[in-house]
Amino acid sequence: MRKKLILDVDTGTDDAVAIMLAGLHPDLDLVAVTVVNGNVPVENCTDNTLRTLDWIGRSDIPVYQGLSHPIVREDFPTPRATKRDPKVHMAVLPLPAATSAKQDLPAPIFLSQAFAEQAGEITLIAVGPLSNLAATIAIDPRFPENCAELIIMGGAVNKSNITPSAEFNIWADPEAAAQVFRAPFRKITLVPLDATHEALVSKDQCDMLRAHGTPASTASADIIEHRIKGYEANQPTGTPQSAPVHDAVCVAALVDPQIIETQHVNVVIETLGEYTIGRTVVDHERRTTRVPNCHVAFHAKREPFVAMLSQTFAPATPSQVKAS
Ligand code: BDR
Ligand code: CA
Repeated sequence: MRKKLILDVDTGTDDAVAIMLAGLHPDLDLVAVTVVNGNVPVENCTDNTLRTLDWIGRSDIPVYQGLSHPIVREDFPTPRATKRDPKVHMAVLPLPAATSAKQDLPAPIFLSQAFAEQAGEITLIAVGPLSNLAATIAIDPRFPENCAELIIMGGAVNKSNITPSAEFNIWADPEAAAQVFRAPFRKITLVPLDATHEALVSKDQCDMLRAHGTPASTASADIIEHRIKGYEANQPTGTPQSAPVHDAVCVAALVDPQIIETQHVNVVIETLGEYTIGRTVVDHERRTTRVPNCHVAFHAKREPFVAMLSQTFAPATPSQVKAS
């Protein structure tokens, strides 16, 4: 049976690859996409999401727009958004203009209803700031227990990408993240930078993707190459001509949990520190008596991840067409 999922995104280059993987993998049933402010303003994130789904022929998947700002802070997206690197994300993805439209219902209301109607059956994958999730918890305290699993791209143990202490998705709305990690989800899996930087995609692999000649393979190759240029300019990965595609690793891990290697540990979010706002405090050495609340991926496997992108974005075989 295909696994049902809802993706919460801030599209975003790597978000777009995650959407394509979720929308096209034969083992997944992408029920809906919800959108949050993050990489670019929420209206752009929604437009980019619609463009991506239209481009791969999945305009049937409904898109719900959510929060345009963090749940507490007023200092984001401006002026902190000026720190966002335009070389890695784009206000408008280089895909044809969307012909489909977002739904009228706000994302938190949709999330509350969708998970209540199919309690325990749908996995939520959140790959942007966690504002929509916190807003849903505020209106529906049963929402966490209605999610089969929550997989989050965010945080870091030994890496960072926005301050020396923090990763973007958690840092962008730390109060929302703190609430999510305190909430009674059945299972939270966190895929931090430590794991996503092990699943790099190279320029050669982009050429391999592009050679498939499908909408998803050409778009993902272009988008990942754009990311590679941005990383080369600003955040070298240590592996030449390569970049992480963070958000897609979460989708891959839902299909094949062996792609990540996790430890069950306690995670809390720093919201007050002068230098450490948005830090994921991961108690992997058991320095406290805090109860484990999260399966943290310390590693990810590059080859099966890239192979999954390639296989999913390749032209469909007759048997796949028949099965879907
Ligand atoms: C995360 O932040 C965003 O820039 C990416 O889309 C990803 O979700 C990586 O820190
Ligand atoms: Ca993202």
